[in-house]
Amino acid sequence: MNFKTVGVVGVGNIGSGVLASLVLHGIRAVAVDVSEKSLETARAGILQTVRLAPVLRKDAPKLTRNEVLERIAFTTRLEEVSTCEFIIENVTEDWAVKKPIYERLDRIASAGVCFGANTSCISITRIGSATSRPDKVIGIHFMNPVHMMPTVEVIRGQHTSAETLATLNRLLAQLKKEAIVVNDLPGFVSNRISHLFMNEAAFVFQDGLATAAQIDAIFKKCFGHKMGPLETADLIGLDTVVSSLDVLYDSFKDSKFRCCPLLRKMVEAGHCGRKSGRGFHVY
Ligand SMILES: NC(=O)c1ccc[n+]([C@@H]2O[C@H](COP(=O)([O-])OP(=O)(O)OC[C@H]3O[C@@H](n4cnc5c(N)ncnc54)[C@H](O)[C@@H]3O)[C@@H](O)[C@H]2O)c1
Repeated sequence: MNFKTVGVVGVGNIGSGVLASLVLHGIRAVAVDVSEKSLETARAGILQTVRLAPVLRKDAPKLTRNEVLERIAFTTRLEEVSTCEFIIENVTEDWAVKKPIYERLDRIASAGVCFGANTSCISITRIGSATSRPDKVIGIHFMNPVHMMPTVEVIRGQHTSAETLATLNRLLAQLKKEAIVVNDLPGFVSNRISHLFMNEAAFVFQDGLATAAQIDAIFKKCFGHKMGPLETADLIGLDTVVSSLDVLYDSFKDSKFRCCPLLRKMVEAGHCGRKSGRGFHVY
């Protein structure tokens, strides 16, 4: 059976991408955020993403503005996800923010509904422990830009059941995405590795070895990567990168995850990457 309505909690950088992807695949959504400004920014961003989608992908539908807006209910009230068949959480990468959301979702959503945690680094087992349904909590680590990336990293927490994985696979099939399923430790596979090279690239820049353009060019032109580490950090959002490094450092107590001071300073200065118009590069 196809999913008809999915709840999306947190509509910032990645949550708005998840919403655009749902809409492009004919799935309705209830979009929740505490911030009216985030809801407004998400609405404008989704309209733009959906409008440009057919230019970038031949198989993307041409949807009118009204068709898009008709498919998404934007709200600040978490209770409105109560009728959703699946809930994807994308709030700020901070356990103090995520934990109360899961405690509330557990009370709001029907007993059979699964929660997909779109976190960069926080353990899915830990997230499951904030609910009375840890078997129905699973990690879905979407990649940015969501509607363009065909693969997601899916994380099985300690108690995630085979049924929950099957449920998520049904949703991903509707979104025409493939899953790479891995086990659970903070940062999973992708971010435990990628945040080391983004952080080290920031140290290299801080130490004055090369310009940001040169650092990225070495990865693209010498290693054949599509994007360099500093461009990738800008795309994710430097605030999210710093929070993720802090989660990794606190979890493993390993100094290799200590956050580059320049990264933290840039976030404090409001230079958070693409979403703020400036990070290692200017947008
Ligand atoms: N940016 C990426 O490329 C990326 C990729 C995969 C996963 N993630 C993960 O997704 C999550 C969100 O990241 P982001 O980059 O979109 O961050 P963001 O800062 O752009 O967005 C976070 C959103 O959560 C909202 N929020 C905060 N508290 C809330 C609450 N109590 N209820 C509802 N909404 C709340 C904020 O208002 C904001 O709109 C993080 O856990 C991050 O690690 C990010």
